[in-house]
Amino acid sequence: MSSKAMGITLAERAAQLSPSPTLALDAKTKALIAAGQDVVNFTAGEPDFDTPAHIRQAGVKAIEGGQTRYTAVGGTVALKAAVADRLLLDTGLTYQPNEILVSVGAKHSLYNAIMALVSPGDGVLVPVPYWVTYPEQILLAGGRVERVATAPAQRHQLRRDDLERVVTPATRGLILNSPCNPSGAVIPPLALQEIAAFAVDHDLFVLSDEIYGRLVYGGAQQVSIARYPGMRERTIVISGVSKSYAMTGWRIGYAAGPAPVIQAMANLQSQSTSNPTSIAQAAAAAALAGPQQAVEEMRQEFDRRRQYAVEQIRRIPGLAVDAPDGAFYLWVDMAGVVGRTLAGREIRNADDLGLAWLEQSGVAVVPGSGFGVPNYFRMSYATSMAKLEQGLTRMRSLLEA
Ligand SMILES: Cc1ncc(COP(=O)(O)O)c(C=O)c1O
Repeated sequence: MSSKAMGITLAERAAQLSPSPTLALDAKTKALIAAGQDVVNFTAGEPDFDTPAHIRQAGVKAIEGGQTRYTAVGGTVALKAAVADRLLLDTGLTYQPNEILVSVGAKHSLYNAIMALVSPGDGVLVPVPYWVTYPEQILLAGGRVERVATAPAQRHQLRRDDLERVVTPATRGLILNSPCNPSGAVIPPLALQEIAAFAVDHDLFVLSDEIYGRLVYGGAQQVSIARYPGMRERTIVISGVSKSYAMTGWRIGYAAGPAPVIQAMANLQSQSTSNPTSIAQAAAAAALAGPQQAVEEMRQEFDRRRQYAVEQIRRIPGLAVDAPDGAFYLWVDMAGVVGRTLAGREIRNADDLGLAWLEQSGVAVVPGSGFGVPNYFRMSYATSMAKLEQGLTRMRSLLEA
């Protein structure tokens, strides 16, 4: 029953939020798995590892030790200190407690930042392919999404030229995501320096989503744009513990930036969610301040899977992929399959191919339409080698048929 039929009209901002175009496939995948069907699922946006033991124990200790009450809205003193130490290692910059805000996941940090910075009509540059959440949050704030194409020949690494082609007088900000979900692209330091100069020249704020910053491979170097001249005062660094520490369910993310912006974000948070869960904050502090060996072990395992999956994808007729430098996804060009007919279905784009694989082969990937590119798909390699082997063999069989 629609909300109208119940006599309730949705607010415009909720009505305009588009359900993800990949939702139909996602729902179908989940329904098949729930019905007990054998589906190899490459759609997950999270590590398949358990949260390391010492972090879980810190959570248990917090419960048993009575850390079960409200904390400061923007995060405990202990967690902010651990975040500041981590930021110094990751960005080379020193942040004070009033320049840090802890939120309910990096997604929430991003939401607070966009709500604090984007006014109706403001343009925000979003490089394509993008993480699906950016455009929707900008639209919620009444902003305009200014899509910036990146070149496949540049392995989707954003360049200043790409931005110059799109920037308008109404542009207020830029969202950077390096390493990128879905492409895995990591912007090299020299290109980043030019992007920083672009942001200064056009007086833009930069939301730098660095959540995959510690998952880089093959000698790629992750650098924060905040460290370039003139950038610290216009950059909000967004990160969190979800991906590097296998803590997606704990819901802890953080933002660091100029105190007045962080204060505005904290005000928004104080009137919406209040503090993130006290227990999860204690576990996140243990993650950031404790031994880091597990992070490196997981990274090495992702790297092994990455190399294997790239090699296998390249053997499948019609598919092409660059070895990604970061995150845990392959961003696969399927244009070579467009126009074929597979099991009676004409393949016009990755949505069609995704459906064919799901129905005929029992493999789920995420079509690129949700990320702004219909002829690509994203597959996560945050899954076991055995599953990778099984799923990739199935994908290949259908295309070789
Ligand atoms: C690019 C990017 N940013 C942010 C997030 C959100 O992370 P969190 O679980 O901390 O909200 C994700 C999760 O998929 C992501 O891919």
